[in-house]
Amino acid sequence: MNIVILAAGMGKRMHSALPKVLHPLAGQPLLSHVIDTARSLSPTRLVVVIGHGGEAVRAAVAAPDVQFAVQEQQLGTGHALAQALPLLDVNQPTLVLYGDVPLTRASTLKRLTDAAAKAGQNGHKAGYGILTVTLDDPTGYGRIVRGATGQVLRIVEQKDASDDERLIDEINTGIVVTPTAPLAGWLAALGNDNAQGEYYLTDVVEAAIAAGHPVVTAQPDAEWETLGVNSKQQLAELERVYQRNAADALLAAGVTLADPARFDLRGSISCGRDVFIDVNCVFEGLVTLADNVRIGPNCVIRDAVIGAGTRVDAYTHIESATVGAQAVLGPYARLRPGAQLADEVHVGNFVEVKNANIGHGSKANHLSYVGDADVGAGVNIGAGTITCNYDGANKHRTVIEDNVFVGSDTQLVAPVRVGRGVTIAAGTTVWKDVPEDTLVLNEKTQIAKTGYVRPVKHKR
Ligand code: UD1
Ligand code: CA
Repeated sequence: MNIVILAAGMGKRMHSALPKVLHPLAGQPLLSHVIDTARSLSPTRLVVVIGHGGEAVRAAVAAPDVQFAVQEQQLGTGHALAQALPLLDVNQPTLVLYGDVPLTRASTLKRLTDAAAKAGQNGHKAGYGILTVTLDDPTGYGRIVRGATGQVLRIVEQKDASDDERLIDEINTGIVVTPTAPLAGWLAALGNDNAQGEYYLTDVVEAAIAAGHPVVTAQPDAEWETLGVNSKQQLAELERVYQRNAADALLAAGVTLADPARFDLRGSISCGRDVFIDVNCVFEGLVTLADNVRIGPNCVIRDAVIGAGTRVDAYTHIESATVGAQAVLGPYARLRPGAQLADEVHVGNFVEVKNANIGHGSKANHLSYVGDADVGAGVNIGAGTITCNYDGANKHRTVIEDNVFVGSDTQLVAPVRVGRGVTIAAGTTVWKDVPEDTLVLNEKTQIAKTGYVRPVKHKR
């Protein structure tokens, strides 16, 4: 099968410099959702028709299996499809999708292509299939005009329809499957003598019927599968549909969501048993939560693997990190790329960890920066500890071996190694390696001046 995705329209009503089909839904461009669905049908040719902002669209979705056809002027859906013709295999049917209709399910498209294929059996000419849906309010859409026996006669656009035709509530979703060999002739014969002065793909239906091809229809399981995005409002509505579906899938798999209406997935998530997710969390990229993980409210978690029984408290940010089992993070913790935490590690409020390994059972509970570091097991990192990893030009590593006690307000000036069992006194700057089982401190003097009078502010 060939698949052509029409994506040349400009999307005036988005009021945006970004081409319409690149606006993100669940973190991915609208067009990427359509391409993903198309791919799941294993097409032999996959063509995207671009026009407005075409180069940006091409750059955003370029892939070895995607070809592009350029429609220089937007002269209508029939004209758009004609631009793709040279790239199609005439011996295969062609499925036409819209780049701004992101949520159509593959099963629905399969139903449409199966219906058209079936109509073309037993000596009939190849079938032409139209995905239709019946709407409470069909305003704006092309209507399916049927004859006395229910057979499709033609599609009439809202702007060209008579008052009687406007009462028809079965509409053209725009998604069709057509035999490809006769398509060039049908498209070449299209006129633009209509209310919009456009070459309508919908007019091909009459040509197909005249040429003796059976025309059939199929319907989606859900109306939202056929909804398009023309405005920010419709984009927001479809985002909610997408997120509710994602939440429902997790609930069905046994995940507890404090509120499925306050859950956002911009990527994919896989969860073990008895996972709990509180409200307002955003999951991005690829996230894996093992059994019994609890995620507190307002967390942002991207590209992370979190081990069994780990608790992530409120307002924690995690990006490109792995966390072992039975760990405790947050509230207000931040794991940046390359943070690798072993089992039972605690990372508390206002602690930032970047490109660092933290060993089994180690704790950094308050106000610290642990970057470019290898921290052993059983280490206690006191409040206000900073790894000074950057000398203004290069980054260096800090190594803290097992069972080190790092007193509060310590600076570790990398590269530096602290041997196992070392105790670092509070307020120490460590800039030379420390051998194991040592107490390290800086000489300091506490000066106390009695009877000191603070300056006062002069009144004017
Ligand atoms: C089209 C259908 C209408 C259907 C509706 C469903 C026609 C004539 N009408 O109307 O029956 O009910 O979709 O939403 O087909 N596009 C191009 N190049 C163009 C024109 C459009 O690539 O020259 C693309 C758009 O980017 C969009 C799609 O085709 O992805 C549909 O275009 P749009 O202008 O929204 O079609 P409608 O007038 O809504
Ligand atoms: Ca439209």
